[in-house]
Amino acid sequence: MDRLAEIARRRTFAIISHPDAGKTTMTEKLLLYGGALHVAGAVKSRKSARHAVSDWMAMEQERGISITSSVLQFDYAGCRMNLLDTPGHADFSEDTYRTLSAVDGAIMLIDAAKGVEARTRRLFEVCRLRKLPVITFVNKMDRPGRDPVDLMDEVGKLLDIGTVALDWPIGSGDTFCGLVDRVDGAAHLFLPPGDRGASVVPTRQTTLDDPEILDRLGQAQYDDLRESIELVGEAGDPWDLGRFLTGELTPFFFGSAMTNYGVGFLLDALVRFAPPPAPRPAVEGARAPQDEAFSGFIFKIQANMNPRHRDRIAFLRVVSGQFERGMDVKLARTGKDVRLAKPHTFLADERAIVEEAAPGDIVGLFDPGELRIGDTVFTGDPIRFQDIPRFAPEHFARVRLKDPTRRKHLQRGLLQLSQEGTIQLFIRDDLGAADPFVGAVGLLQFEVLKVRLEMEYSVNAVLEPTKFTAARWIGGKPEGREWLERRSDFMVVSDRDGAPVVLAETAWSLQYALQEAPGLELWDVSPV
Ligand code: G4P
Repeated sequence: MDRLAEIARRRTFAIISHPDAGKTTMTEKLLLYGGALHVAGAVKSRKSARHAVSDWMAMEQERGISITSSVLQFDYAGCRMNLLDTPGHADFSEDTYRTLSAVDGAIMLIDAAKGVEARTRRLFEVCRLRKLPVITFVNKMDRPGRDPVDLMDEVGKLLDIGTVALDWPIGSGDTFCGLVDRVDGAAHLFLPPGDRGASVVPTRQTTLDDPEILDRLGQAQYDDLRESIELVGEAGDPWDLGRFLTGELTPFFFGSAMTNYGVGFLLDALVRFAPPPAPRPAVEGARAPQDEAFSGFIFKIQANMNPRHRDRIAFLRVVSGQFERGMDVKLARTGKDVRLAKPHTFLADERAIVEEAAPGDIVGLFDPGELRIGDTVFTGDPIRFQDIPRFAPEHFARVRLKDPTRRKHLQRGLLQLSQEGTIQLFIRDDLGAADPFVGAVGLLQFEVLKVRLEMEYSVNAVLEPTKFTAARWIGGKPEGREWLERRSDFMVVSDRDGAPVVLAETAWSLQYALQEAPGLELWDVSPV
């Protein structure tokens, strides 16, 4: 297949959801439908091993580097799908956000009984920042849930986005048995094979007048169905591919990852509507995926927890040209030549050596410590992509040393680990590097920090809790910053690049500061 066709068939996306909405189950079913996973349950077993920090570390040590579930590649209806995992459980971290910088679209999974939940909202905000197209899948329709019209209304209002249902559930809970295609009006009935979602579910295409539908739903529910289809036709936005692609409109699909109902429709939507790889904003030069010269950027670095193997894996998203094993590229930040020698790609079951990769694909590179989050690598004319923003941490700690003679090691370790993206580092101007604060989006990042400082830098550090729960980058007029500095309930610090950041005890107090401080602006992502 030629290069342009390879690009056109790529779909690189992530699933965003609140814990328990069904992301693991859906991931497994997408693989099942892609023919990449024969035994439903394989993804699940990995997840349960990920719950506790100790388990996670034990697993990292045992397997070297756990990458298999980070990126999954499978084919569906002629498309090459790259599904990037956004950890959403105990291991929620900045990686979750950063992964969204490497996709071209997202599936927002919501639980039909719960609607929009806290983490769905936060992850959606990151999608909005990138104007990513988002497809909404309402999951668990096989259980009693909320009225679909209400759910659409909630998404529209809470997330401030247009909504349109592209399919509509026939029945709900026990009676959920099919979907109406809202584009052509056809009804699709699922024929239960009786294995509760272990294999692809067959469907029969029919019309809404089919007596079987009335039979399965009963008169009252059948009337409701007719009525709600009319209602949603009048209430929602019209379908508009352009508005979807700029993130202004989200199409709704309904189903059940558990029974596989609706999974095929969702995949068909990805094939039909989700965009192929797009050009990436750059601060120097410009590249389109179709360009011959190769370029890509690092969006995640995963360290090896095994002290005997210090290597780490840097996740590279290919932006343009063709990636080839062993190719020599330039690292934009340093201008140095780097050989991409031991690349791995991510198949559903095993990691495998990759020989070639196209724009949209993710390649895992063994990295001896040269690469950082946000790095650009390229051949040909210089290009430097926009950096990946850092997101305001929600957990803070003060780092204390047990052995003061290790201070230099601690400082080096903190700087390197912050560049790698493990934690964020904040320094008080008056105290300097001697009394640093660290911040993280998820608490697990602190655990990882402690273990890595110990193993890689022989530093025994204590992470003391602080009174802070929120941070924002400071912008606007200098008077605003001065106002913050005068008050004892805020602390103004610098991030590792010297940008001013305010630490606050509550998110509410930041609202107050915005009202009171003259000309103050506060940002929850770093100025890149
Ligand atoms: P997550 O990764 O988003 O956290 O969710 P996960 O897939 O682990 O699903 C969370 C729970 O919801 C699981 O139940 C799972 O079986 C269930 N679930 C997922 N999709 C559906 C669905 O479409 N319908 C129904 N009824 N349930 C669904 P669990 O009891 O926590 O685990 P398990 O005992 O089923 O393994």
